[in-house]
Amino acid sequence: MKRCFAPLSLAACMLTSLPCIADPALAAAKNCLACHNIDKKVVGPAYKDVAAKYRGDKTAPSRLVAKVMEGGGGVWGVVKMPSNPQVTEAEAKKLVTWVLSL
Ligand code: HEC
Repeated sequence: MKRCFAPLSLAACMLTSLPCIADPALAAAKNCLACHNIDKKVVGPAYKDVAAKYRGDKTAPSRLVAKVMEGGGGVWGVVKMPSNPQVTEAEAKKLVTWVLSL
């Protein structure tokens, strides 16, 4: 299931542009973009850097989903990400799948 996620959304992107637009919009709606940018470090790391760091890491998606929801630090610097109680697990999965696809 987890492994199917990225190829599935990629296929969806080829069929329709909707899912591709939905994920950045979700990131904006959930306030992720207050601290993150796709290709620039802001408070948190650039999402493209996150994608590059975890490329090929099969355990990354589930770990990152938990981290997006619960927050945490120590990977990119001294600043911690606060918990994001406004996102559901399904939304966190969608966001992480999108981030890792960049
Ligand atoms: C208040 C600022 C802030 C907000 C809001 C925020 N982040 Fe972060 N994020 C950070 C910081 C700081 C880090 C780096 C944490 C670290 O070094 O471990 C981070 C790290 C990450 C990482 C990489 C984690 C890792 O262990 O490599 C992902 C993925 C991520 N954020 C996604 C999101 C998503 C999705 C949202 C919206 C639901 C979000 N962030 C909202 C500040 C934020």
